[in-house]
Amino acid sequence: EQAGKGEYDHFMLKEINEQPTSLAQAIEGRIDPANGRIALSDFEPGTFEGIDSVQFVACGTSYHAALYGSLTLNQAGVRSSALLANEYSVSAPPVDDETLVIAVTQSGETADTLNALRQANAEGAQTLTVTNVVGSTAAREADDALFIRAGPEIGVAATKTFSSQAVMLTLLGQRIASDQRGEPRADTESLLAELASMPGAIADVLDDSDAAAIARRYADSQAYFFIGRGLGFPVALEGALKFKEITYEHAEGFASGELKHGPLALVTPETPVFAIFTGEEDEKTLKNAEEAQTRGAPVIAVCPDDHPAVEAADDHLEIADTDQDLAGLLANVQLQLVSYYAADLLDRPIDKPRNLAKSVTVE
Ligand code: AGP
Repeated sequence: EQAGKGEYDHFMLKEINEQPTSLAQAIEGRIDPANGRIALSDFEPGTFEGIDSVQFVACGTSYHAALYGSLTLNQAGVRSSALLANEYSVSAPPVDDETLVIAVTQSGETADTLNALRQANAEGAQTLTVTNVVGSTAAREADDALFIRAGPEIGVAATKTFSSQAVMLTLLGQRIASDQRGEPRADTESLLAELASMPGAIADVLDDSDAAAIARRYADSQAYFFIGRGLGFPVALEGALKFKEITYEHAEGFASGELKHGPLALVTPETPVFAIFTGEEDEKTLKNAEEAQTRGAPVIAVCPDDHPAVEAADDHLEIADTDQDLAGLLANVQLQLVSYYAADLLDRPIDKPRNLAKSVTVE
């Protein structure tokens, strides 16, 4: 097992560090920034022309990636929703043959997600899975499959697969929107150029992160909160899931604007708030963060160096200034590192947290 970890103490840290490579693998041959069109050569031109709406079904980290994908689709003008696969049997919105149901699952074997996929198949929706595992049940049972090519992920906590899922869903969303419209969106060229530079931007985060110091500084806190708006919201949820999963500490993610609708009652000087800035109404997120600060909570801003939040916050985790569709991915890498170092300080069994399995094959 130690051999598989290479120079790292844990598979999780190895897999976090693999992200520049796994992301490059995910996009390889699938985008062509030079001509500004989305290749996504996995699908024939016009494949998604007749799609009226998209439903994503997924669990856990994959659900957060699905929410990310769904928000990018909505922003691109395509009706879409992200649904917890384990809720789908009791609350699925209606589907027909113009509905595309996308099952997002790293393993392709999660029972809840397979159940939702089977329900969608039975009800006559078109289905697609976005998965890491070629030959998985989801890949066999969905009408079509898009592989994220992240390579094997051993740590129970999903890390590199989240980044690859989110990127592939962003790309797929652009493709669905352009098939519907008959031409790519005006901003496609710049998005693709930024996407091509993502592996390098993630490498920069990994080379120069203050996450270990931040984890140490806030090690004795009572609870950890994560807030974000727009695409920062699924990243806040994912930051909190990762943190609670491997540290066993109380962590919650909220949409920034929700803080004042209840969670603010939990905020004290003992509850650091990680605020994620993706360039979507950041001034509002900053205001929400300052409301927490007024209650004594330290705020850690995850944002570019020249962002106004740096001045206002108590601490800063830096990300490159990039397209708002992609900023959350860089923020997520910083938060993965914070969780990892916080769990390491507590000496937790990081790769195999108690009570959890890598793939949940029971309902
Ligand atoms: C996240 O760190 C967990 N491993 C878990 O939430 C996981 O994402 C979920 O069980 C779904 O798994 P899947 O992607 O293999 O379907």
